[in-house]
Parts: sequence; C-alpha cells; structure tokens
Amino acid sequence: MRIWAVANQKGGVGKTTSVAALAGLLAEKGKRVLVVDLDPHGSLTSWFGLDPDHVQKSAFDLFQHQGQVPAGLTRSLIQPTSCAGVDLLPASAALATLERKMIGVEGMGLIVSRGLAQVWDDYDYALLDNTPTLGVLMVNALAAAQHLILPVQTEFLALKGLDRMLNTLAMIMRSQRKAIPYTVVATMFDRRTQASVQSLNTLRKTYPDHLWRFAVPVDTKFRDASQAGVVPSAYDRDTHGVRAYRRLLDDLLAETMQVKAEAQ
Ligand SMILES: Nc1ncnc2c1ncn2[C@@H]1O[C@H](COP(=O)(O)OP(=O)(O)OP(=O)(O)O)[C@@H](O)[C@H]1O
Ligand SMILES: [Mg+2]
Repeated sequence: MRIWAVANQKGGVGKTTSVAALAGLLAEKGKRVLVVDLDPHGSLTSWFGLDPDHVQKSAFDLFQHQGQVPAGLTRSLIQPTSCAGVDLLPASAALATLERKMIGVEGMGLIVSRGLAQVWDDYDYALLDNTPTLGVLMVNALAAAQHLILPVQTEFLALKGLDRMLNTLAMIMRSQRKAIPYTVVATMFDRRTQASVQSLNTLRKTYPDHLWRFAVPVDTKFRDASQAGVVPSAYDRDTHGVRAYRRLLDDLLAETMQVKAEAQ
C-alpha cells in the first residue's frame, strides 16, 4: 500500500475534491483504493452519501483503545462506496473531541499508521483527507503518509496558508525524523482573473521544485459530482477538471515511483 495525505491548513482549497477525484481515477486504473476521512466535518463521508453525525463506525473508533488498534478493527470500519474499487473509512462528528481526549496518550500520533497497517495488503493506495486545523488528526495523517499533496487555491490569501502548512510539515518531519515528499497543486484556477494568474506565477517562482506543472481549473462539475455522491470521473469522465486530475495522477505516479526506485 502507498499512503498519500491531502492536507492544507487553509479551508476550502480543494482537499476533499482532490481525494475523491484521485481515488476515482486510481480505481479507473484498476487500483484498489481506500479513502480515509480524518475531518470531523466529514465532507468526504457526506460526498459518499453517509451522514457523519450518524455513522455507527468511523475513524474515531481507532482512537478508543489507548493508542493501540485491536486486531481486525480497521477492516470492520470500512465501507464500500458508489465507485467500484474505492472503499471508505468514514469520519464521524465525534472526531472533533479527540484533541481533548488524546492528550498524554502514548503513541497517539501513530494510530492511523497502526490502523492502516492492518489493511496493508487489501489496498494499493490509501488517500487521507484532512481537516484544515493542525492537531492530532493531521499529525497522524502526516506520520502515516509517504507523500503529501497540498492543494492551494489560486488566490492571494491561499499562499499565506501554504507557508503555514509548510512550516507545520517541517516541524513534523523534524519531530518524526522522516522526510515527506510533497507536491503543491494549484486548484480552482481561472485564467480570466488576475488573482488566479498572479498567484500561479508567484507559486511558480516561490516553489519551483514542488509545484505541479499544471493547475486544476475551476469546474462546477466537481460540486455536481459531490451532490450526486459519485467520484468526479463517474459524473463526467471528460470534463476539463477531471482531465487535469488525470494528468496530476500520472505525474504523481511517475514521481512517487521514482522516489521508490531511488530508495531501493
Ligand atoms: N477545481 C474546482 N473548481 C470549482 N469548484 C471546486 C473545485 N475544487 C473544489 N471546488 C468546490 O469548492 C468547495 C471546497 O472544496 P473542497 O471541499 O474540496 O475543499 P476542502 O479544502 O476540502 O475544504 P475544507 O477545508 O472545508 O475541508 C466545494 O464546494 C467544491 O465543490
Ligand atoms: Mg475537506
């Protein structure tokens, strides 16, 4: 299994949409995909038609056993989705209470890693969706991740959020003594607006080594897909937004394969 986290400390930048889009496209390539919703708001869970206020089993259950994950627990929390090849480990609203509960629990940052280890051979990819706030959930996601995808909305303020996220990443990499390669993905790009064009240029100048070479355009079909409860490529397989994610996926696969080869 390969684990990719999708995170940014800024809200509304396209994290959940990126997880749903990439999951659908990985499944299209015949990969077995697990999407994990680590956001107490549960947008990804809602995307796939479940209500995070009422789900019975969720990622919250992983955190109920003093830092350990009892055998078989992860598998018991996973559900199929409308997309063949994509399964979901849902979020529940109770995840919001974790910050308080997990203080001082030994190994609390490794719970998601331990949980995913139980389904390591069941999936080719796990994609972790994150809340925009730094806390125990994001620390867990980054501890588990082999690659970080960092969506950034192409508008002025989003670049500040990116700085903050990269500082957090540096801090976590230091404390966990591991390197997490990352790809910054410009989203909601609208070539007709100055703010979009200028912020993409700034991103290119500031993060030349990490910025994905293209951008995900504004595409209203993403919202339509979430309302329909299906992955974007199942809603419309050839819309310009889906085409952009398809290109992103190919680049991510090429990049992460290369990293793997170098490590061997
Ligand atoms: N490329 C895009 N074009 C147009 N709308 C988009 C695009 N990507 C996402 N959206 C829409 O923007 C909104 C925010 O997207 P999304 O929920 O993916 O962001 P997020 O970073 O996960 O937000 P949060 O921080 O609240 O979890 C949603 O309504 C989504 O449908
Ligand atoms: Mg989200």
